[in-house]
Amino acid sequence: MRTCQINPSILSADFTNLERELSRIHTADAVHVDVMDNHFVPNLTLGLPVVKRLGEVSALPLDVHLMISDVDRWGPGYAEAGAASVSFHAEASAAPIKLARDLRAAGARASMALRPATPIEPYLDMLPELDMVLLMTVEPGFGGQAFLDVVLPKIRRARAAIDGSGLPIALQVDGGVTRETILRAAEAGADVFVAGSSVYGTEDPAEAVVTLRNLAAA
Ligand code: DX5
Ligand code: ZN
Repeated sequence: MRTCQINPSILSADFTNLERELSRIHTADAVHVDVMDNHFVPNLTLGLPVVKRLGEVSALPLDVHLMISDVDRWGPGYAEAGAASVSFHAEASAAPIKLARDLRAAGARASMALRPATPIEPYLDMLPELDMVLLMTVEPGFGGQAFLDVVLPKIRRARAAIDGSGLPIALQVDGGVTRETILRAAEAGADVFVAGSSVYGTEDPAEAVVTLRNLAAA
């Protein structure tokens, strides 16, 4: 049985009281923070000053997901701000190997994210530079979208490549993860699950996290 982690996304939380919203997911493994710039994706969320403050008040590690252009320039700042892991989009990086090295040098785990239609095969040679691979299971930009089953074969191929490499690389899925879809994602080989609306959309987010983790591990 694989160890499974649940990282709730605060994109679906109440942005006027993030400290309280963090306390509602105390059962989680990390908090997923979606940074959007209204350029790489058609939505705008929060940036470095908020991430810095979240790092200061959060008991959970920060799992920062950068959906921003010019990520080679801005990414390392999030690692310096204390993020435990920083995911950058391969589609937004001109120099992904350098960026991954910069993130690690700044003390974060380096993670590369791929949109649903971006193949993983061109990036397999750089697995040794990475601590995590993030496969989007919706088009990035918004919470509450439906899980794209079309990504399942890529999850399987990524799992096979990671296992074949022998490296301790996590495989994260993000988007549309619910009590129903988490089973398919876990079966395909994911071991870190981002869940926004299916956690914060419930009465008891902490309990929703436990339920999702149990389902993924089953
Ligand atoms: C989407 C974000 C996700 C989002 C997931 O672009 O990267 O992290 O918050 O939300 P749900 O779980 O509602 O699909
Ligand atoms: Zn995300």
